[in-house]
Amino acid sequence: MAKVHEMDHPLIQHKLSLMRDKTTGVKEFREAVGEIATLMCYEATRDLPLKEITIETPVADAKVKVISGKKMAIVPILRAGLGMVDGILNLIPTAKVGHIGLYRDPETLQPVEYYCKLPNDIAERDVIVVDPMLATGGSATAAIQFLKNYGVKHIKLMNIIAAPEGVATVHKDHPDVEIFVAAIDEKLNDHGYIVPGLGDAGDRIFGTK
Ligand code: PRP
Ligand code: URA
Repeated sequence: MAKVHEMDHPLIQHKLSLMRDKTTGVKEFREAVGEIATLMCYEATRDLPLKEITIETPVADAKVKVISGKKMAIVPILRAGLGMVDGILNLIPTAKVGHIGLYRDPETLQPVEYYCKLPNDIAERDVIVVDPMLATGGSATAAIQFLKNYGVKHIKLMNIIAAPEGVATVHKDHPDVEIFVAAIDEKLNDHGYIVPGLGDAGDRIFGTK
């Protein structure tokens, strides 16, 4: 079973507390999502392979390390996942970006697909799927399955808040996928919202409620 990494870095936890507060406005909420995404990306890319090359500094030849291995793609789950993309591109500016549009049916809580546009060479890339919320796990599981159907071999999932139920679902359906989260909360409520959570991430990022 792949690991769940819960990131307890003080900067991440501080910004997450700001996001949870219901009095935090759209601008500050959106900024915090982007900043947390950057900080989480730093940790989630810790295992990227390096290779040694030789360069010339102004003083002498030097053996230095650069990132090697497969190219990367970021795949946000629309809509809320969009809020994390720029924060990740700050650190991996050459990554390509694919989009998977899913919304959760409010009655059944099942994910409904409405959009999918991926880089042509997605099967050759390592992918980080991003979405601030992992609740039942239905959306993340569906998005990961999509990518696997396109031939993607190596997928990481990055969420800001997860419910234990969502983590368990992803583990069951995709035991190969490592999960990176800032917090695992207590539970889901009867409407499938994470408790205590932060409410509806998409609405808070885009100011739609
Ligand atoms: C939210 C969230 C996830 C999904 C999580 O999206 O951003 O995509 O719910 O729930 P799940 O784990 O139970 O599937 P939502 O459906 O509200 O769409 P939005 O991003 O367009 O607001
Ligand atoms: N989607 C959200 O945006 N928030 C939740 O708590 C659950 C699903």
